[in-house]
Amino acid sequence: MNQATLALSGVSHSYGRTQALRDVTLSVAPGEVVAVTGPSGCGKSTLVMLAAGVMRTQTGRVVVAGTDLGGVDDAERARIRRRSVGLLLQFGQLVPDLPVLDNVALPLLLDGHAPAEARAAAAGWLGRVGLDVDHTALPSQLSGGQAQLAAAARALIAGPPLLLADEPTASLDQTSGRALLDLLIGTTIQAGGSVLLVSHDNAVAARADREVRLRGGAIAHEVALS
Ligand SMILES: Nc1ncnc2c1ncn2[C@@H]1O[C@H](COP(=O)(O)OP(=O)(O)OP(=O)(O)O)[C@@H](O)[C@H]1O
Ligand SMILES: [Mg+2]
Repeated sequence: MNQATLALSGVSHSYGRTQALRDVTLSVAPGEVVAVTGPSGCGKSTLVMLAAGVMRTQTGRVVVAGTDLGGVDDAERARIRRRSVGLLLQFGQLVPDLPVLDNVALPLLLDGHAPAEARAAAAGWLGRVGLDVDHTALPSQLSGGQAQLAAAARALIAGPPLLLADEPTASLDQTSGRALLDLLIGTTIQAGGSVLLVSHDNAVAARADREVRLRGGAIAHEVALS
């Protein structure tokens, strides 16, 4: 069997006295789309941030593309995140003082690509996600849906083997949301990657091969979808 792109084993996480995740074991294979669902506050975004290496693992192991994130320093975790993880967060998270084009180009710029080449790639991805705005616009000049599209372009630009998408279509109308999901899933799976998709929306979760439902920070059940 192929090595999992993402493997969490026995992962627990607390914010002070709030235990957000409890002993979560979950893996996503190459070519697989897994949906993580569950009520507000059940730990979905916490799981995404640990999988992305945005937060340090407290208990358990998080392995991304063969690297145990607990065993590397902050700089190496950041490098893995730039090269191996496309991260699309719940609230867009664009850099406020960078024009939209540079926001999208950022993973390549930080990874040492020539600026002109990175910006040309960014313009291509802005076209593919269907975002037709002035490339010099700042994030504050975009609508919520436009910011979400720009964040999606940024998540895809480096061709990451693992795409983590936390409520990726929450600010979009149904048609744009469906088109964006087609692009996110199609691009990643065609390249042999894996998608972890977080959503409250059953129509979004239904696009996955498998649904993992969290309750109170623990896996309540897993369902194979087809
Ligand atoms: N930075 C933080 N500091 C303290 N507590 C936090 C923090 N982030 C999350 N929590 C708590 O951890 C728990 C899980 O939060 P999390 O954001 O992972 O839930 P979620 O499933 O993504 O919810 P939603 O569906 O509303 O996005 C909640 O009880 C939340 O209040
Ligand atoms: Mg969340």
